[in-house]
Amino acid sequence: MTSLPRAGVIGNPISHSLSPKLHSYWLNRYGIEGEYTALKVTEDALEKTLRDLPKKGFIGLNVTLPHKISVMQFADQITDRATLIGAANTLIFKDDGRIFADNTDGYGFMANLRQGAPDWDPKAGPAAIFGAGGAARAIIVALADAGVPEIIISNRTRPKAEALRADFGARVRVVDWVQADQMLEDANTVINTTSLGMVGAQEFKVPLDALRPEAVVTDIVYNPLRTPFLDAAAGKGCITVDGLGMLLHQGVPGFERWFGQRPDVDDATRAAVLA
Ligand code: ATR
Repeated sequence: MTSLPRAGVIGNPISHSLSPKLHSYWLNRYGIEGEYTALKVTEDALEKTLRDLPKKGFIGLNVTLPHKISVMQFADQITDRATLIGAANTLIFKDDGRIFADNTDGYGFMANLRQGAPDWDPKAGPAAIFGAGGAARAIIVALADAGVPEIIISNRTRPKAEALRADFGARVRVVDWVQADQMLEDANTVINTTSLGMVGAQEFKVPLDALRPEAVVTDIVYNPLRTPFLDAAAGKGCITVDGLGMLLHQGVPGFERWFGQRPDVDDATRAAVLA
């Protein structure tokens, strides 16, 4: 029996995910016979789901909260970057039943930044990161890899930032949340990885007076697309890059591995996902 190659995204909740729109758009755009769906999977059902889906024609998955860390235990092969980050967001089901796990969040972050700010020079100065959750981990790995000389982190819950320093070493410096604005004084790259500013969440209240106009500023929040944080940075003269592109670009490696076509992230892709 030949069936359509299938991929999808697992998480819980999952109804908000934009990945089905993104991958369905790409399948359609490149004329690829395939399917991409969202699957709500509970923690309890995770292992069985991972074992069953390949039998139903699935060739891979994206993984979102809360499974990004727990899927790692079921992977037979894990990329270096997923190991460093400690989480996976992209799975490939091999013909022999083995599961290959990768993390493309850092790649997505970097590709978005490079597309939105082509003159950005990672080596020009420190990066300042607000937040120390899963997204921050992936971003730190990507920034360190790109040659950012110093990574300054501030998080409401300081021990989580300290843990990142313990994991990622001397290039990381921690600043207390009540002094988070001090990170901005010489930062060349500034990133919000907290949920602050998202629709339904609290406002981003750290003062941005110390922001340098030369800094490139980006937010992982993409709902709204223009966050008050990005607007304030643009008001200071900074180049700003919104967070939607990170989501779009992180989908590229998976789509390419599953369906054999490297997809473009361009205005048409953005429009399709926002429609
Ligand atoms: P993700 O994996 O997307 O990074 P996460 O691990 O839940 O998600 O992290 C969310 C980030 O937003 C954390 O840095 C969190 O700070 P805490 O570690 O102190 O929880 C931050 N965050 C969420 N709500 C916040 C708030 N009201 N004030 C400050 N930081 C907040």
